Amino acid sequence: MTKQADIAVIGMAVMGRNLALNMAEKGFTVAIYNRTVERVDEVIAEAGPLAERLIPCRALEHLRDLVKPARPILMMVKAGPAVDETIETLAPHLDAGDILIDAGNANFRDTVRREKHVRSLGLQFLGIGVSGGEEGARHGPSIMSGGAREAYDRIAPVLTAISARFQGTPCSAYMGPDGAGHFVKTIHNGIEYADMQMIAEIYGLLRYGHGLAPAAIADVFERWSSGPLDSYLIEITARALRATDAETGGPLVDVIVDSAGQKGTGRWSAIEALDLGVPASAIVAAVDARGISALRALRAKIVARFGAEPASRGTATDAVIADYEKALIGGKILAYAQGFSVLNAASAEHKWNLPLAEVARIWRAGCIIRSAFLDRIAAAYDRTADLETILLDPGLSDLMADCLPAMRKVVGEAALEGRPLPALSAGLAYLHALAQARTTADLTQAQRDIFGAHGFERTDKPGSFHGAW
Ligand code: ATR
Repeated sequence: MTKQADIAVIGMAVMGRNLALNMAEKGFTVAIYNRTVERVDEVIAEAGPLAERLIPCRALEHLRDLVKPARPILMMVKAGPAVDETIETLAPHLDAGDILIDAGNANFRDTVRREKHVRSLGLQFLGIGVSGGEEGARHGPSIMSGGAREAYDRIAPVLTAISARFQGTPCSAYMGPDGAGHFVKTIHNGIEYADMQMIAEIYGLLRYGHGLAPAAIADVFERWSSGPLDSYLIEITARALRATDAETGGPLVDVIVDSAGQKGTGRWSAIEALDLGVPASAIVAAVDARGISALRALRAKIVARFGAEPASRGTATDAVIADYEKALIGGKILAYAQGFSVLNAASAEHKWNLPLAEVARIWRAGCIIRSAFLDRIAAAYDRTADLETILLDPGLSDLMADCLPAMRKVVGEAALEGRPLPALSAGLAYLHALAQARTTADLTQAQRDIFGAHGFERTDKPGSFHGAW
């Protein structure tokens, strides 16, 4: 009998191909399949020496013979119906106990449904979130796995081997049953949206408030790379701002249309937060900011009516830049506080028992939001596993308190000048709202009782009451 593969990868678009090559490089033999079969041969032809660990599969029904049981079969096909179609086509050709793995960007609700369905067929199902883009897939992504523990244990050696490493620790871990892995990936993307938006907001102040050239702003971000903001997103921000356009000779960023795209995972995290009743205003603001950027025709009309050019903010002195750095650190803490609070609530709601310290640890390398900052969050959850919010961790709350005056100044001045900082101001408003000893919800309750007789509780005695309005 010919050599059998350790694992199969279905879907030879760039992510699937790179994952397969990554596995081959780590010593695993990989059966590869693609609906359009020519791609299989292309991948083998371009794989160089790794081709000897790739086994071409030209029909799904052949996979059974090509992979060692219990067969792990990783699907990296277009998210949505393609996953269901692949499951339906493949399932009849597999044996009980074989493991179907969806590594695409699935909505976790689909993963919950598919896990049940696949289990009813006698097979096992894992939904794994893979972050890190093409480069990550090829050289080490961050991997968030969900599904039955024993199915995960079967493929854990492959996932651990191909994942990124942070100071030697693999960025791959088991998150919990059914949709836990894809949910964690969704919230990763929500935090990514907020992180990116806040960086862009500070860029906007430096660029349009102080008139700094993109290359000069790249210098600022590069300096911040050696402080608490050190992260992949800050690093690529500097790279983006330094790039020049070959055609115009000017900054590349200036010839890019200012309308942001989105594939939906940021929006999903906002929707899930709202459904769970967990505030995630900075993430929601970041999703909205992309939406507003895409309203180009409407923006042109609103500019004509309300778009007075704010006065220059003058020289970006070291003190001003230090304030911006603190505002960004504060915003980052608040965005992560919201993201982790959503994870916490979802964990309780779906009984996933998400390992939050581990979530922070596997995000330290490989994924888009990778940063040393996540080490602080991992440490916070290591200190207190049931931490209600990272804002109550002594280390992180000290850092937040240190950044707060600068954040208030930056957000406040921007509002007075008419400069938009949607995510930073949403984050700040969240903190201010949480920090009220007495909210104004007493009045809200009074209003609700007047129009809907909803009743209210009193501060001085138990029970439900109505006012004599
Ligand atoms: P790309 O990333 O190239 O734009 P895509 O449409 O997102 O492609 O699809 C990604 C992968 O999913 C491809 O491997 C694609 O197979 P083809 O090369 O044959 O297009 C695969 N795919 C998409 N829809 C599929 C389906 N319904 N069944 C099986 N595989 C599918």
